[in-house]
Amino acid sequence: MTRYLTAAMASLTVLGIETSCDETAAAVLRLEDGEPRVLSDIILGQVAHHAPYKGVVPEIAARAHVEGLDATIAAAMREAGLGFADLDGVAATAGPGLIGGVMVGLLAGKAIALAHDKPLVAVNHLEGHALSPRLATGGATFPYLLLLVSGGHCQFIAVLDVGVYRRLGTTIDDALGEAFDKVAKLLDLGFPGGPLVEAAARQGDSTRFALPRPMLGREGCDFSFAGLKTACAREVARLGHPSDQDKADLCASFQAAILDVVADRTTNAMRLFDPMWGATGRLVAAGGVAANQAIRARLEELAAERGYDFNAPPLKWCTDNAAMIALAGAERLRLGFSDDLSFPARPRWPLDEMAARLRPSHKPGRKGAKA
Ligand code: KG4
Ligand code: ZN
Repeated sequence: MTRYLTAAMASLTVLGIETSCDETAAAVLRLEDGEPRVLSDIILGQVAHHAPYKGVVPEIAARAHVEGLDATIAAAMREAGLGFADLDGVAATAGPGLIGGVMVGLLAGKAIALAHDKPLVAVNHLEGHALSPRLATGGATFPYLLLLVSGGHCQFIAVLDVGVYRRLGTTIDDALGEAFDKVAKLLDLGFPGGPLVEAAARQGDSTRFALPRPMLGREGCDFSFAGLKTACAREVARLGHPSDQDKADLCASFQAAILDVVADRTTNAMRLFDPMWGATGRLVAAGGVAANQAIRARLEELAAERGYDFNAPPLKWCTDNAAMIALAGAERLRLGFSDDLSFPARPRWPLDEMAARLRPSHKPGRKGAKA
């Protein structure tokens, strides 16, 4: 990381670029005396591209980013009413994520930075999610306990300051969004699965299927969802051709198991967080699964029981977006940091490198959560 002399600037305007999964996104954000203001926030989704395959196909995602990114960036600049010359820097997601897509966005960011002589900030996508609760007016102040739950990630992070993150727990197999998506696939509900499982669960009986609650009662705040997913697959095989009511009941039973696990793990995470940073009492949920109303409600309840505030970003900033990447970039520039144009795209990039080394969640090469 190289130092860039912007530390004294009271106002910073940054273009953010996000292409790590299946959203092509660009946003312009101004950080004025530490307060973020989103000037534009454009997202080009790829659902139609991936729906026939019932999941994100990395090669198709990368190609769609190539086809859609230029126009998305142009739209973000137009909506902000700015030219590249008006920017103080360019921030692009450099990982973790699907490598083809990450390369497309990072390369575009580098090209704009080079052509317009602006500093580049190579942003860790997880840092974007970690800071996303600060995007809204009056958003979370440091420090806070973050439950980051999305299609690729599932972890508890103590967010202490910009660039200062301690991972308290993580999944040892699937991410939570991945578990939702796999259950949706098993039941042929469609893609993306999370919102469809949540909607089906509202019509179902959560007591009909006795599903396991992996890690419940265990020490620490790690997660595991592989066993729960397998149990759902077994029930689907037993049912043969599940009716709509069968599907709703299984979704409701699955979501009830998730709620119990999330509540148990969050209680333990608060216990770990409390002695060092808990006096501030802030619990925050971010990432796509934080859009789930039942999960939000359970977390809110838990927080209230412990005297914590609960906060989750508006839904549009829970799922992948470029405003959070622009914010992470602007915060880093404000601290005087930028990155070299040789910065590589990284498929894996833990936010808390030390925790990832000391307590790896999976062996290198095995499939699993992105970080
Ligand atoms: O943060 P995100 O857009 O992308 C990643 O970085 O992974 O999260 C997408 C994930 C998908 O797995 C999607 O099914 C899940 O978030 N998701 C939900 C809901 N909305 C999105 N899961 C459960 N309930 C929801 N309402
Ligand atoms: Zn994400």
